[in-house]
Amino acid sequence: MTRLIRALSIRSGESRMASLMIGIMLFTAMGAALGGTGIEALFFARFGVEYLPYMFVGLGITSMIMSFGFSAALGSIPRRILYISIPLFIAAILILARLALFTKLSWLYPALWLGKEILNFLIGILVWGIAGVVCDTRQAKRLFPLFNASRILGQVIGGFVTGVLVNTIGIENLLLVWAGTMLLAFLLSRTLLRSQQLPALPTAKSRQKQPTLIHEMQQGYRYVRKSRLMRWISLSAILFSVLYFSISLPFSRAATEQYVTEENLAAFLGLFNGISTAAAFLASLFFANRLFARFGIMFCILVFTIIYLVGFASLALFPIFAIVVSFRFIQMLWLSGIADPAYQAMFNVVPGERRDQVRTFIDGVPEQAGVFIAGAILIIGEQTLAPQQLYVVGLIAAALCTFAIQRARGGYNEALIEALQAGNPHLFYSEEQPFGGFRQDAAAVRAALNGLADPDPIIRRVSAEILGHLSLPEAEAPLLNGLNDLDALVRASCLRALAQTKTTSAIDRIAASVRDPEPDVRFEAVAALSGLAISPSQLEEYLNPMLDDADSRVSTRAASALLKVGCNVARAKSFLRYTAALGELSERENAIIAMGEWGDTEAFVFLVNELKDRQLPVMIRRVILASLTKIDPAKSISYLIEGLGHVDVSVREAAADLLAKIGQPVLESVLTALQKPKQEEGALLALQQLPMPPQKPIEEYARAAVSRAVEYDALMRGVKAEASNEAVGLLLESLQKKSNGYGVRALRAIGLLGDRDSMNLAIEILEMHNSAQRANVIEALESLNSRRRSIIRPLMRLWEEESAPDGKADWGRLIADDDSWIRDCALFAAHKLGEIEMENIATLSLMERILFFKRVPLFANLSPADIKQVAAIAEEVSFSNDDIIVRQGEVGDVMFIIASGEVRVIASKDNKEVELARRKVGDFIGEMALISKEPRSASVAAVGNVHTLCINQKSFESLLRDRPDVSLAVIQVLCERLKEAGLKLHR
Ligand code: CMP
Repeated sequence: MTRLIRALSIRSGESRMASLMIGIMLFTAMGAALGGTGIEALFFARFGVEYLPYMFVGLGITSMIMSFGFSAALGSIPRRILYISIPLFIAAILILARLALFTKLSWLYPALWLGKEILNFLIGILVWGIAGVVCDTRQAKRLFPLFNASRILGQVIGGFVTGVLVNTIGIENLLLVWAGTMLLAFLLSRTLLRSQQLPALPTAKSRQKQPTLIHEMQQGYRYVRKSRLMRWISLSAILFSVLYFSISLPFSRAATEQYVTEENLAAFLGLFNGISTAAAFLASLFFANRLFARFGIMFCILVFTIIYLVGFASLALFPIFAIVVSFRFIQMLWLSGIADPAYQAMFNVVPGERRDQVRTFIDGVPEQAGVFIAGAILIIGEQTLAPQQLYVVGLIAAALCTFAIQRARGGYNEALIEALQAGNPHLFYSEEQPFGGFRQDAAAVRAALNGLADPDPIIRRVSAEILGHLSLPEAEAPLLNGLNDLDALVRASCLRALAQTKTTSAIDRIAASVRDPEPDVRFEAVAALSGLAISPSQLEEYLNPMLDDADSRVSTRAASALLKVGCNVARAKSFLRYTAALGELSERENAIIAMGEWGDTEAFVFLVNELKDRQLPVMIRRVILASLTKIDPAKSISYLIEGLGHVDVSVREAAADLLAKIGQPVLESVLTALQKPKQEEGALLALQQLPMPPQKPIEEYARAAVSRAVEYDALMRGVKAEASNEAVGLLLESLQKKSNGYGVRALRAIGLLGDRDSMNLAIEILEMHNSAQRANVIEALESLNSRRRSIIRPLMRLWEEESAPDGKADWGRLIADDDSWIRDCALFAAHKLGEIEMENIATLSLMERILFFKRVPLFANLSPADIKQVAAIAEEVSFSNDDIIVRQGEVGDVMFIIASGEVRVIASKDNKEVELARRKVGDFIGEMALISKEPRSASVAAVGNVHTLCINQKSFESLLRDRPDVSLAVIQVLCERLKEAGLKLHR
């Protein structure tokens, strides 16, 4: 059993879900197959095959109504109700239908015929909807093919047992069997969904955003109009519909004539459907990929039109039962087994963002038009033409369709080349298909091979990348040729491709590339050599000299390759250690990554030691954490948890991501971290990506966070009741942030236990300050279960209304807060209000400076706590009248923000002084030299007494790097200044 489960790519913990889902698929498909066949046989035998063309027209109309109206209507019914009630509803309808059959009313048969299509549509929504809820995206990729296979198996079984059932219980009672399978499906889906959190209705916002079907179709149409391929495909879609029904009708008629009793007819149809479905499934598993790789997908579609051509030609000549049946069998086999997968793969040449729209358009318009046209042709044809003449009509449609597909093939090749030109290799990548290995298109391979000789280096590069990915032996020689390409990136891509193809015959030519003048190429050469099967001694010979390479990426890569094969270990290790500790930033990064790959305890200990350096650049800290995790996930957990509390958000995020990658084993440590104020933010980040945590600690955490949010809100309202000044404003802003922060964390925690995406969306909206949207979110939160709703209810009250002044400031509580920033703000505000004497002068001046920085436009968007960081790194410097603050042409390593007074910016031009500008309080000067690393562009002199805050090069750079807001503001000011200077100097 376990072996079976493993063979079906079901992972541990999934087997219950997967087997329930397989059961649902199997039973619903089985019921639909035997019930549908029964209805078909009843219709043919009791109502008349000749009415089929009218049914086709009716079918066209119903499917249009279903795709437009139904999907939208179903979208507004809560999922749980939908998934549980559909099977019950279908079962009830079927039982009613069975009872109605006692009346033998003739209109029942066409109604049932159309009704079965509607039921099948509903079942489709039901089963894939449930599958979508119980699987995440990654599981879906793995398990959906399996579910689909069980659906097909259900159809096959349903087909085979139809005959037996008809003979034992009678044809009409097939409807009851179908109803029975739906009841079974109901029980299974109830069990499956019982423990499942179902997403509630989409929130008002996302509902608005959902594009309408019409809009999607219009977008699709716009694309189709421009694309040669899709224009021909649209035409062929019409013709394929016509062809499909043109054989479906004669087949049904021939079967009805051949099997006179309805029991025999049903048994025959069941058997036929069962066998053709099974054959098509096997063909799609075992032959489709081979045919695509050998002949190309468009060729396989062309073969389908030729099948129609030959089929109708033979029928026009010999209209006998055996030929009708064989034609229909081959048509069904090729359609579901080969042509449909090929047709779906063809859509890959449509850019991803348009693909669904184009499909929606083609399925919705040309295909449906084809159904109507087919109905019309058959209705008229039935009345005016002999059956054999109708086959000639089919023959003509097949000829037209062959022509259309032949033209589409040209369009497809063009689209492939366009994709190469657009640098979009992905469509050539063969994705692994369920049970069937890789799918590859012969035409795409040819395009990529030709692309290697294209004059455009981009096409050559993309082609090399594709060929590497496809790993084809025939690509080896052209790729080796590419090593002499004039374009370095093409050489690099060819090396990468050769490494992927595992070429071993031409090692010498690859090894020659380690002497390439371009570091990128040398890097790929080293990487390729280390990935190929060469003897260690030979590898050592090639790679030893590379340790001295001028480019650190190359040398570190060589070192890790040597370590991997155990050659020259001592030198490689000491090289990496040296570079990791003392190299330039990027060299260190590469060396640390290489250490992660080589991975032994020695490397682990070394990296842990590096982490202790408090001055360690943020980027290096992140790489170290990643390397530690790579070397020893279990041992790295404690360091990652520590990383969750780092001041820099990027380190916290990196630590959270890494913890999430380790998965379940970290859960307990992360839950402990959640209790520590410093780490809670990071812990929440990690939990977001981990499997669902236990409820209790999370709910407790959320409750505590809510009560803190309420507490800070109350404190804020107290302060609001005091007189207002700048210092009080700063405190209010900080308290509001604090309260909001706790509230959001509580929501995030609650979100962990249910639908995370909707909760994140809700939080995003809450933070947007748009009151109309807020109301929607608050309404959506009402749909949480009652215990959780009661946890967060106090927050709703905070957020629903602007908090009004209330009571009196509790200074005693505020200046004892556990957050030092709140303490400082409170002390400062109380000091300004004359409530408390502030003793710590250093803090006082820092707070004054923060107030000042808040007025500087450059820092306007920073949060108070961030401004504190900036303020802490600035030094005060004063100047008197006419002092030169910076001198044109000198090297500069500091910049100034004017705290009081005024300065003149002067430049000399032709030995004359030109005043470029005057700068006042809040402006900054001297930043250009820091950014451009060039001498001062102008001199700046004080006008009267001037106080400045001075920031040195290093602090300024880290400010720009860490705070994109500040960078943007600096860039804007720089642009202004450049414009100003240009105008003045050229006047
Ligand atoms: P920097 O080049 O480091 O030193 C001289 C400073 O004068 C320069 O940075 C700017 O801050 C300032 N400066 C230069 N040109 C202008 C200008 N056109 N307008 C305002 N300030 C300027």
